[in-house]
Amino acid sequence: MPFIAQISDLHVGSINFVEELLVNAIDDLNDIHPDVTIITGDITDNGYFLEFQKAVTYLDEIKSPILVVPGNHDARHVGDECFEELIKNRYGILKDKKHGLKVIGLDSSEPDLDYGRVGRSQENWMAQELRNADEENLYKIIALHHHIIPVPKTGRERNVLSDAGDILQTLMTEKADLVLSGHKHMPHVWMMENSTFITAGTVSSLRLRGRELSSFNTINIEEEFIEIILNRADGTQRCLAKYENTCLGD
Ligand SMILES: [Fe+2]
Ligand SMILES: [Fe+2]
Repeated sequence: MPFIAQISDLHVGSINFVEELLVNAIDDLNDIHPDVTIITGDITDNGYFLEFQKAVTYLDEIKSPILVVPGNHDARHVGDECFEELIKNRYGILKDKKHGLKVIGLDSSEPDLDYGRVGRSQENWMAQELRNADEENLYKIIALHHHIIPVPKTGRERNVLSDAGDILQTLMTEKADLVLSGHKHMPHVWMMENSTFITAGTVSSLRLRGRELSSFNTINIEEEFIEIILNRADGTQRCLAKYENTCLGD
């Protein structure tokens, strides 16, 4: 059964970036052997080429397959070109038939802007890829940087996807199983119809809210249940959600 890790908001290059936090988190990831690690954006702080180069040295240490999508910080200063040169396509697919999952990565960033937008062409592409995954009976995971549903305890709501309503409707229609995002540095889980929306904290930045610590998420998909765990930098864990698995096992 699929075992997924999500890290987000590395912010390599920021004065608030702490290398030790990232190295420790990657060590932990390599110890627990996820089938895939999904990285939901803001891997750099300013989108600079040198920041991407440094970020790649860390990402290369992750032993599992990875899928990376850009965040608003990665899209600063023509960072989208650096992302494509040093990492990969800004949106794409990671399919793992052995573990029965398909990750569809979206680029929700806009050059030099903080708000997000998926856009009609990516939305249509996503819908088709979700239908294809359904035909193959694969677990359907969407990854994008910006949250689609507002996140509690993040103050005045801003920088939500400008086309959040359209994207949400498509995700409901096509029955996405998991929707992973970052951006707010605040872990949270929302459940809506058959989809679960998971927001990650920051894995290695001190830009934290309240008493939160840097963290990453793990998602354990068993035949009977799905469990989403917050793994905090002090070594403690907290269950963010646990619910019956009605998607697989038939
Ligand atoms: Fe961020
Ligand atoms: Fe962000």
